[in-house]
Amino acid sequence: MHFELSEEQLMIQKAARDFAINECLPGVIERDEKQQFPKEQISKLADLGFMGMMVEEKYGGAGLDTASYVLAMEEISKVDASVSVCMSVNNSLVCWGVEKYATEEQKQRYLVPLAQGKKDGELYIGAFLLSEPEAGSDATSQHTTAEDKGDHYILNGTKNWITNGNSASVYLVIAQTDVSKGSKGINVFIVEKNTPGITVGAKENKLGIRGSDTHSIMFQDVKVPKANRIGEDGFGFTFAMKTLAGGRIGIAAQALGIASGAYERAVAYSKQRKAFGKEIAQHQAIQFKLADMATRIEAARLLCLRAAWEKDNGIDYTLSSSMAKVYASETAMWVTTEAVQVHGGYGFVKEYHVERLMRDAKITQIYEGTSEVQRIVIGRSILK
Ligand code: CAA
Repeated sequence: MHFELSEEQLMIQKAARDFAINECLPGVIERDEKQQFPKEQISKLADLGFMGMMVEEKYGGAGLDTASYVLAMEEISKVDASVSVCMSVNNSLVCWGVEKYATEEQKQRYLVPLAQGKKDGELYIGAFLLSEPEAGSDATSQHTTAEDKGDHYILNGTKNWITNGNSASVYLVIAQTDVSKGSKGINVFIVEKNTPGITVGAKENKLGIRGSDTHSIMFQDVKVPKANRIGEDGFGFTFAMKTLAGGRIGIAAQALGIASGAYERAVAYSKQRKAFGKEIAQHQAIQFKLADMATRIEAARLLCLRAAWEKDNGIDYTLSSSMAKVYASETAMWVTTEAVQVHGGYGFVKEYHVERLMRDAKITQIYEGTSEVQRIVIGRSILK
């Protein structure tokens, strides 16, 4: 066993850190306030190869391991979680499933531009459409229907809370084909956003990750060629679960980054702010907070890297990714709240960043499976 990062991993970490500081930090407060999608940042991330980090080079990806992805997600999330959620969805919820399960023809058509994040010089990213108004945690309860019409399907229904909802060019849509078969009657389709019958709802006005592009998507008699179904008939729910297991590593790494971003700011502030005649870092009340933050962050980091290592080594990572996600997201919420406390009144205003990180942390306990869902997965796995 060894804990050192490789030369390549260190290089990726540094590239992500530089990118976060140089490209994401300027304007992050304004983008949050105006709920502005960070299009310029995502476009530059694509040029850096970070939108298809783990995709094989022959499909336009960077061919890196999952640990590198975790490191990059952490660095970018320290600064702007609205950028990193877009990156996470494209990498692990869209590119991964298409690379793993789609046909060669589907990969050439969709994966190549998705992994590059660009097509004809324009942004080209994807979204994962599973959640519905009445199907969040209860994901098998799909109401969106895909009616089999021979050489095509007709999609009807509504998807909710869709990250990259308006900015994506391609949607992976999960829909019910045969309700009598339950989770085995669900399929997944690659659907181009400009297909007639698709309507994008208004952007959600959110507590955190306000720059990210979250919308409802409505389908009315949307015709999708059978050639755009991924996998065998009825594969859609398994596809969603397998994809989410990897997605949860990405969100765990995002939560880790939000926590470490707030922690680094709390350390810096406590060494500069004076109270009762000394730096507040010299007061044990503050030191104990910093010590607990550092310890929990390190534990979250190890869980993330462990899950990434299992994924890269062909070991079932369903359990480890849920453990990483529940622990990292709860750490993010706790650490960011404490970071605001360390900053006192300054923590409560926007200029010091930690209030935004605290707002951003909350969603990591909700999306890609709530903390409660992660505990279901963990509980079932350990009792099986
Ligand atoms: N891999 C393969 N198959 C799996 C699986 C996995 N990880 N998990 C479940 N399955 C299979 C089961 O074996 C079962 O098959 P059988 O009927 O043959 O046994 C079938 O799928 C149904 O599974 P369950 O009976 O376990 O289903 P359930 O109704 O009890 O639900 C659940 C399980 C874990 C709660 C699941 O519904 C779930 O993960 N819910 C959360 C959904 C979620 O994460 N949504 C996030 C939305 S995406 C998002 O947030 C993206 C974004 O924009 C940021």
